[in-house]
Amino acid sequence: MKELLAKPGFLAPSGTFGADLSYLLAVLFTVMFLYAWVLAKKGLGTQHHKLIFLSMVSMLIYFIGYYYARQLGVLTLEGKEGFGGPEEVYKNVFVPILTTHLILVCLGLIFSIYMIFQGFRACDKIDGEYVLQSRELKSSPKVFKSTMVILASLWAGNQLVLTFIRDKSFAASLAWAIIFGVIALVVFLEKFIEKSLPNGAKRHRILGRATMIIFSLILVTSTLVYLMLYVVYPKT
Ligand code: HEM
Repeated sequence: MKELLAKPGFLAPSGTFGADLSYLLAVLFTVMFLYAWVLAKKGLGTQHHKLIFLSMVSMLIYFIGYYYARQLGVLTLEGKEGFGGPEEVYKNVFVPILTTHLILVCLGLIFSIYMIFQGFRACDKIDGEYVLQSRELKSSPKVFKSTMVILASLWAGNQLVLTFIRDKSFAASLAWAIIFGVIALVVFLEKFIEKSLPNGAKRHRILGRATMIIFSLILVTSTLVYLMLYVVYPKT
């Protein structure tokens, strides 16, 4: 697998097969997401929901597969290995764009997972079709409490498996703690979101548009990173 990914690419002369494939898939998933926005704008709520679901599932499978195949996270942070341009451009242009890209990817992931849950909560299924409901959407204190308890139990169970069965490092535990911490933070923030945007349908439209804008910016920044690494400043 590693050899295949390191083979010459098909988009730019200095790209690798892995980089080109990853860029093309990133474009495909983002375009699917943005097309789901078009479907929502046309009032096709159910098709919109199906496409969002399909793109999220394929994106997650791709991320996990790619991470295992190439240890992408580590490589991306060390982008310098593949950057052949001047030091000032690396420091003042490439690193800020790459950092913005990574921040947007994290935000996009958090927003889209939140939006999927919010979408189900804000909709009723009427005659087999999802329809946004213009009504107050609030989680009861009981639901809020049990969500937090479930999250804490999942984290504790996972931590026990990491420590006693899989014998994982402290870094792995920390990474999982951050993941569970972010989910808990989003559940906690929902209390404030409910106050400022009480109407479920309005909340879905406003935060949904913000999510779509984040995905558009991810497409722009990933294209810039690809162009800088493999077209404008490839390592010779
Ligand atoms: C990542 C997840 C999601 C995002 C980013 C998202 C985004 C959006 C946006 C931006 C709109 C408004 C379109 C506009 O007027 O500009 C919208 C509408 C809508 N969404 Fe979502 N959505 C998501 C998930 C879901 C889910 C899971 C469902 C259903 C279970 C759903 C059902 C709907 C419906 C029914 C509409 C109204 C369409 C109409 O105007 O008739 N969405 N969504």
